[in-house]
Amino acid sequence: MRRSLSLVAVAVLSVAFFPGCKPPPGNEMKIGLITPLSGDVKTFGESVKNAFEIAVEEANTKGGVGGRKIATVIVDDRNDPTEASNAANLLINQHRVKAIVGSVTSKTTIPVSDLAQSSRIPTITGTATNPKVTVADGKRKDYMFRSCYTDSFQGTVMAKFARGELQAVTSAVLYDASNDYSKGIAEVFRDAFTRMEGKVSAYESYGKDDVDFSALLTKVKASKPDVLFLPDYYNKVGLIAKQAKEQGLEAKLIGPDGWDSPDLVKVAGDAIEGGYFSNHYSPEDTRPEVVNWVKKYREKFGQTPDALGTLTYDATNMLVEAIRRANSDDPGKIRDALASLKGFEGVTGKFTMDENGDPIKSAVIIQIRDGKQKFLQVVNP
Ligand code: PHE
Repeated sequence: MRRSLSLVAVAVLSVAFFPGCKPPPGNEMKIGLITPLSGDVKTFGESVKNAFEIAVEEANTKGGVGGRKIATVIVDDRNDPTEASNAANLLINQHRVKAIVGSVTSKTTIPVSDLAQSSRIPTITGTATNPKVTVADGKRKDYMFRSCYTDSFQGTVMAKFARGELQAVTSAVLYDASNDYSKGIAEVFRDAFTRMEGKVSAYESYGKDDVDFSALLTKVKASKPDVLFLPDYYNKVGLIAKQAKEQGLEAKLIGPDGWDSPDLVKVAGDAIEGGYFSNHYSPEDTRPEVVNWVKKYREKFGQTPDALGTLTYDATNMLVEAIRRANSDDPGKIRDALASLKGFEGVTGKFTMDENGDPIKSAVIIQIRDGKQKFLQVVNP
C-alpha cells in the first residue's frame, strides 16, 4: 500500500514536469500541495504528504466533490522560502489549481500566503503557526486559512507552563533570527514570561547555518536559567540540546511544536530526555476521532501520525468540505465557503476559525520520556 501511494505521487509529479505528456483534460478538479519533501525538516514534509493523500483518497472514494474526482499536484519546497514561492507560482499559473494546501513551516508559508492572496487562490495550511501567515501589516489576507492555533497562543502556553508547573523564575531563549517562526515565538515567550514576573536572563540569536552553539551556551550557562526555551525545528534543537549537555547546563529544556519529529531523539540522544514541548494533538488521546485516525495512518504507513500529518488531514478535509458546500470550482466561492465553516469536527478537535482564519483550539504539552513522546496535559485557550 505504501509503495502504491508513493508511485501515485511520482506519477503526479511527472505530470507536473512534462506538461506535453498531460492526459487529455478530464473532469477532475485540481488542488495543489506544497510540502518540504527534502531539506532540514524532511520528516514534516513526509507526514504532511501522507496525510494529504489519505484525505484526498477518502474524498475520491466518496465520489469526489460535486461528482468530480480530485486530482493533486504535489511540489517539494525543501523548506526554502524562494522554493516555496516558485512552487506556488507553478501550481497557480501552470497547473491552474483551484486551491492549495500548504505550505508547512511559517517561513515558507508566509511567501506562499502573499501569492495566494494576490492570485486569489484559497489556501489552507495545517501547520504554519506564525501570525503573519494570515495577516500582513494589520490587514487580513482573506484567501488564507489554517487548521492550527497560532504562536501567540503557543508561546504564552509555554511561558505559563514554565512559570507555573515548572516554577521557573529565570529563563533563557536561543532562537534563529532568520526564521519567522523561531523569532516570532521567541518574542511571544519572552514577553509572556516577563509579564508573569519571570526574568529572561539570556536572549540570544544564531544564524540558519550555524552548527556550533558553544559561545551562546556559555552565555546561557552564566545567566543560570531555570529553563532554556528552544523555539526551532528538531534538527537544530537536537544539536543545541546535545551541546548544552556537553557544557553541563542544568536548565530544563522546553520548546514549541517544531520539536515534533522522531528524529529529535535521534539527533539529541538523551540530552533531550525530560524536555517539554507544546503540540497540537496526542496520539494517546482516546477520542474516537483520534483512535480511528491513528489506526488508519498506522495501517497505511506503519508509523504513528505526528501533529503535522494530523493537522494537514484536518486542513484537507476542511477544504474538501468547503468545495462541497460551494458546489463549484470557483476559487472565490471556495474561499467564502471556507470562511463560513463553523464547528468543524477534526481529529485535532472541534473548532471554528476567527475573523483572521485562525482557529481557537487547545494545545497539548508533551514530555520526552525514555526517548518517547508522552502526553502530559491539555491547555485550553
Ligand atoms: N508551527 C511550525 C511552523 O510554523 C510548523 C510545525 C507544526 C512543526 C506542527 C511541528 C508541528 O513553522
